[in-house]
Amino acid sequence: MKEEQFIPKPYINSIDDGSFTWSSPSNIALVKYWGKKQHQIPENPSVSFTLSDCKTITKLSFSKKESASDFSFEVFLDDEKKDDFKPKIVTFFKRIENYLPFLKDYHFKIQTSNSFPHSSGIASSASGMSALALCLMSIERALNPKMTNEYFIQKASFLARLGSGSACRSLEGDLVVWGKHKDIDGSSDLFGVKYPFRVHENFKNYQDTILLVDKGEKQVSSTVGHNLMHNHPFAEERFKQAHKNLSNLISVFKEGNIDAFVEIVESEALTLHAMMMTSLPYFVLMKPNTLEIINKIWTFRKQTGSKVCFTLDAGANVHMLYPEKETETVLKFVNNELVAYCQNGHYICDKIGFGAKQL
Ligand code: PMV
Repeated sequence: MKEEQFIPKPYINSIDDGSFTWSSPSNIALVKYWGKKQHQIPENPSVSFTLSDCKTITKLSFSKKESASDFSFEVFLDDEKKDDFKPKIVTFFKRIENYLPFLKDYHFKIQTSNSFPHSSGIASSASGMSALALCLMSIERALNPKMTNEYFIQKASFLARLGSGSACRSLEGDLVVWGKHKDIDGSSDLFGVKYPFRVHENFKNYQDTILLVDKGEKQVSSTVGHNLMHNHPFAEERFKQAHKNLSNLISVFKEGNIDAFVEIVESEALTLHAMMMTSLPYFVLMKPNTLEIINKIWTFRKQTGSKVCFTLDAGANVHMLYPEKETETVLKFVNNELVAYCQNGHYICDKIGFGAKQL
């Protein structure tokens, strides 16, 4: 697939107004995307678990304008007008205009809400951009009803990527690969694809409990963070390592080897943070409580034989990943020993999910 294949032929239908609503989940990367080239092309492939309950619901209403002048839209979060969201959406519209030539023909009302609290430190860009991309693709499908489901989902992921890279992994479940990888046929830098190989029962219904260590705004925006990988002294080795970790995960998933999974996932999380600590300018995004939690998890694992592990995004919050059968013991551990390190004692229980849904 090349970018040009997503430029549509003239539409067969015309449509004056309507609305579409999609619910789209967040995702948590196991092999991390960190570093990009122009046009949101990742420097290395990544793979993520799609989540289930952390999601964005977006309703996109549209009505034809008299004349196609500039982009025209308003945006609401939980029914409250959010003009500060507009610049990000204008950037998104500019990037995808070529692929959705109807964008200037309509006035849009974007009404969005997140299932997780706005100020939880959980990034809503993946679920938000994928929900919006899916709504826009529903309009395109109304203009071109002959579109196949495969094209619909691929192009929606392609568009979501142009909104926020990791958003292209938030459309389908339960494991999604983004970025060309030699061992994964069909993998692409342009969009996410469902992980195509066998996944052992051990990883079915895997749980993700998110410990909210810091609910504040991100200290470093993703854009700034990805740019730190340009001229980074360890960049090339890091990109190679991501390819290798993804290769290794293929047999780990097939064989159900959770110990090897834990090692790859924790190493990826720490490498992501190591990249930020060794770039110029440098950042430490973990908080003292992040480290307290990591140490407690290691001790718990040693003492109990549990397979729980942690991963991190570009922030201080900790995702605890563990097999479904450990749910009770891990939640007891969280309540007894870890809530003290969470801001206001808050954490969110989620698990692997099956992707976006049209409502
Ligand atoms: O999608 P972005 O540009 O916000 O980048 C997200 C990067 C990480 O969350 C840190 C890793 C990943 O692969 O999701």
